[in-house]
Amino acid sequence: MSKAPLKIAIDDGSTNVKVCWYQGGKIKSVISPNSFRKDWKSAALRAETKVYNYQVGTTKYTFDATSDKALSTTHIDYQYDDQNLLAVHHALLQTGLQPQPVEIVVTLPITEYYNADDCQKNEAKIERKRQNLLRKITLNKGEVFDIVDVKVMPESLPAVLSTLLSANVHEFTKSLVIDLGGTTLDMGIVVGEYDDVSGIYGNNEIGVCMVTDAARKALAAADSDASYLVSNELIKNRHDDEFVEAVLNDLSKKEIVLEKIETKIAELGSQVAFEAKKFAKHPHRIYLVGGGAALIEPAIREAYATLGDKIQLMDDAQLALAKEMCLYHTAPDTESAAQHAEAEAVA
Ligand SMILES: Nc1ncnc2c1ncn2[C@@H]1O[C@H](COP(=O)(O)OP(=O)(O)OP(=O)(O)O)[C@@H](O)[C@H]1O
Ligand SMILES: [Mg+2]
Repeated sequence: MSKAPLKIAIDDGSTNVKVCWYQGGKIKSVISPNSFRKDWKSAALRAETKVYNYQVGTTKYTFDATSDKALSTTHIDYQYDDQNLLAVHHALLQTGLQPQPVEIVVTLPITEYYNADDCQKNEAKIERKRQNLLRKITLNKGEVFDIVDVKVMPESLPAVLSTLLSANVHEFTKSLVIDLGGTTLDMGIVVGEYDDVSGIYGNNEIGVCMVTDAARKALAAADSDASYLVSNELIKNRHDDEFVEAVLNDLSKKEIVLEKIETKIAELGSQVAFEAKKFAKHPHRIYLVGGGAALIEPAIREAYATLGDKIQLMDDAQLALAKEMCLYHTAPDTESAAQHAEAEAVA
C-alpha cells in the first residue's frame, strides 16, 4: 500500500506564506516572504546561497529577497495568479522536507471565500484558487513538491478556534476577530464557541502595506532604496538601533525615517479602530490576529477601553491561522487534534 501524501497547512497571505505541518508529533512552522521578480538569477557567488529559478508556462521568475524590482503581491488578484503558485511552492521548499506528494490546505480572504450578500461560500472563487495551485511549475536544477490536492479555508476566523473552546465562552458571547495582514483587513463576529458566524467584513485597502509604503519612501529619501521585505523588517525592528543603522545609508535621516513609520502606524491603528467600531460596536471579546496585530493593539485597546483583558493579542499572531489549520486539518488523527488543541491553548 502506498503512503498517504503528507498534509500541510498553508496560510498563503499576500506578503508572507505561513506553513505548518506535523513532524514527530510536533507542529513545525516556516514563514516564507514573497519577493519574486521576472527572469532568472545567475548562479550565486557563495555556494551556500541557493538560487531559486522557477518557470510557469513560458514565464521565468526568481526569488529575490532584496530586489527593488520585486513584483507587487499587494492586490487581490494575487490569490489566483502565477505569483501565488510561486509563493506556495517556494514556501514548501523552505520547510526542509524532501519534495514529495502533498495535500495542502490554503486560505482565501473572507470576502473572497464568502459572497458578500448572503455569506454563502463562493464556490467559483474557491475552485479558481484550487485550480491555480494545481498548475505545473518547474524549478531549474531542482525539484518541486507535487501538490496532489488543495483544500481552501477562509482567512481569519478559524485562527481563534481552540482559544474559544478553552475559554468556555457563553453561547451568546460575541467575539470580534480582527485580522490585519499585509494588504487586507478582515473582521468577523463569532458567536459562542464558534456556534455561528454573525458577520463578516473585508477591506483590501487597509493593511500593513500602508506602513511598508511609507517606510519604503522614507528609506528612499535617506538614500536607502529598499524592497518590501527590508522595509517590513525595518518596521518590525524599528526599536533595534543596530538593525536600523544597518539598513539606513544616510544616518542623519534616522529620526525622520522612524518618525514617519510611527506616524503611519498610528494612522493605521485609528483607521482599523474606526472600521472596527463601525462594524461591531459592542462585542464581548476581541481577538487580534495577523502580522499587523501588534501594530494596532494600542488603538484597539483605546477604542474599546471598557473591554480590558477581554481584548487579546493572539500569541504568534502572524502564524495563528496556519497553526489552527494544522491542528484541525492535517493532524495525523483528528480526535487527538482536538485534545492537542485544548492542551496547546492551555499551555
Ligand atoms: N511583529 C510584527 N510587528 C510588525 N509587523 C509585523 C510583525 N510580524 C509581521 N509583521 C508584518 O505583517 C505583515 C504580514 O502579515 P501577514 O503575514 O498576516 O499578512 P499576509 O497574510 O501576507 O497578508 P494578507 O492577509 O493581507 O493577505 C508584513 O508586512 C510583516 O512585515
Ligand atoms: Mg493573512
